[in-house]
Amino acid sequence: MAQINPSILSADFARLADEAKAVDGADWLHVDVMDNHFVPNLTLGVPVVDALHRATDTPLDCHLMIEEPDRWAPQYAEAGAGSVTFHAEAAAAPVRLAREIRAQGARASMALKPATPVEPYEDLLPELDMLLVMTVEPGFGGQAFLDIMLPKIRRTRQLIDKHGLQMWLQVDGGVSASTIERCAEAGADVFVAGSAVYGADNPAAAVEALRRQAEG
Ligand code: DX5
Ligand code: ZN
Repeated sequence: MAQINPSILSADFARLADEAKAVDGADWLHVDVMDNHFVPNLTLGVPVVDALHRATDTPLDCHLMIEEPDRWAPQYAEAGAGSVTFHAEAAAAPVRLAREIRAQGARASMALKPATPVEPYEDLLPELDMLLVMTVEPGFGGQAFLDIMLPKIRRTRQLIDKHGLQMWLQVDGGVSASTIERCAEAGADVFVAGSAVYGADNPAAAVEALRRQAEG
């Protein structure tokens, strides 16, 4: 079944608890953590994740676009994130980090920027619960979907299947009614959508419409 994770980057930060409730039917809430170093934007950190965790029953999918995830990522699991994604480009010891995240009781996930190939990480996949293939350059919501990432999504799906893994394959960036079917067809099963959900008049209905489209 396709999972739809609305990104609160496109929500009203002054009303996060209400914005979480506005997408009650969502599988996860995608929380974009940016440190103004790994990406040229700054959002929120552990205290906000902790507060949001207490304000909603929807599990939190924390996407850490930060330097030194080895140092910080386990704290997000401790704060209540159900899934913690670090970037391959920033992690010094991704296997150790994934194990630490799992030891905190969260799902461990690794993200790849558009120019980062998946192949060098093939042997690491069993250590992960999810791989995130970015379909825009990380940093901002509302960017155009990069079609050229579709072959990478396909190759990642092939690697996952080749090893018989149950891990999820997430796409993030420019996912909307006009791009989600191509992502699903290429093998993604978890879809992050920011502007396509929170930019809609009825965010909950947008989640359900995206899910139907992804499930074809
Ligand atoms: C971008 C973030 C995304 C962003 C997606 O760096 O990682 O999660 O919120 O927003 P849309 O869906 O508007 O591209
Ligand atoms: Zn994200």
